Amino acid sequence: MFDLLVKGGTLPDGTRADIGITGDRIAAIGSLPENAVQTIDATGDLVSPPFVDPHFHMDATLSYGKPRLNASGTLLEGISLWGELRDLATVDDMIARAVEYCDWAVSMGLLAIRSHVDTTPDHLRGVEAMLEVKARVAPYLDLQLVAFPQDGLYRTKTGRDNLIRALDMGVDVVGGIPHFERTMADGASSVADLARIAADRGLMLDLHCDETDDPLSRHVETLAMEVTRHGLGGRAAGSHLTSMHSMDNYYVSKLLPLIAESGMCAIPNPLINITLQGRHDSYPKRRGLTRVKEMQAHGITVGWGQDCVLDPWYSLGTADMLDVAFMGLHVAQMTSPQDMARCFDMVTTQNAAILNLADYGLRVGAQASLVVLDAGGPVEALRLRPDRLCVISKGKLVAQRARNDAQLTLPGRPASVRRRHRTGQA
Ligand code: FE2
Repeated sequence: MFDLLVKGGTLPDGTRADIGITGDRIAAIGSLPENAVQTIDATGDLVSPPFVDPHFHMDATLSYGKPRLNASGTLLEGISLWGELRDLATVDDMIARAVEYCDWAVSMGLLAIRSHVDTTPDHLRGVEAMLEVKARVAPYLDLQLVAFPQDGLYRTKTGRDNLIRALDMGVDVVGGIPHFERTMADGASSVADLARIAADRGLMLDLHCDETDDPLSRHVETLAMEVTRHGLGGRAAGSHLTSMHSMDNYYVSKLLPLIAESGMCAIPNPLINITLQGRHDSYPKRRGLTRVKEMQAHGITVGWGQDCVLDPWYSLGTADMLDVAFMGLHVAQMTSPQDMARCFDMVTTQNAAILNLADYGLRVGAQASLVVLDAGGPVEALRLRPDRLCVISKGKLVAQRARNDAQLTLPGRPASVRRRHRTGQA
């Protein structure tokens, strides 16, 4: 007898299968007997592994308007605003905002998040707060923390020392921001330094890298080289990589194989890249998104990240990775059937690979975490960004929402349609 049985759902690959759960593991997948403590009817609904966000800032989330609004909406005003907020916010403030955000995430089927945490201030209150949040939400959400020297590893007197202190406190991943160092040479040195720290400590590496419109900001080349040198492979990632949007095509033809050779992953953040990049342009305006399809064609793992929700950099955001994939699909022009399906894969299995989540996926023996969506398949899920009807994390039901079957009536017309025009599209 199963503890939980999810009956009749459609998996992302289009197959229909029941999923039996015992304890915190998936015990069986297929046509299963109705023999469970609790059965969830997912007939006609999409059953997916949970959403994963590989790039977020949980120390800043849900702080919109504190201590003031970002009047220009620019990256640099956002950084300056955060510089004020991080010294005003208490540990308790940050914990309360982050735990509330984790509830939002769970309600959207988002069950694993990699969050950068600013290690610039000597008080390291953000690190203390996020380590506490990680422990509190661990029963239902996997939070991976990145030590992130927001103001530069070398640009402040204690930048490097504080990053090391954060790692000693238990932060999981080594971060950095080479394009924000004083010079290109300092940026390159920071990449080499951080890669060595990650290698020596056996940690993963994830740098905010080349988040600029400068076609000559080429720290991604250095990152690929250092990842190759230390053999970090898929335990390393470059976040943003927006300068690649503007680079010379010939140079990119050399760069892509170097990134592929290193095995590192890439994390574009389409909601943020599309709004923050190209601000110095007149027309045509660059869109700032890195070369997603080109990297994928070279076999590089690329995931979509969210980056921000209601914080100094972004006044919107929903904790819905389908919103993120929807924007990415449009900006990267990933509109073929295969590319659309891949966009869904990017916010689930590809992002899980970037976080190195070994127990992830809909397979027997994997951790029993999944989400039931009011959609017929991945493409319809992207089109509708529908309700998450049921979310299971580590074998436990953590969110459930009644199906909204309200019919919209069009007076004078015979037809009526279900909410948000669900058609059963795969
Ligand atoms: Fe970021």
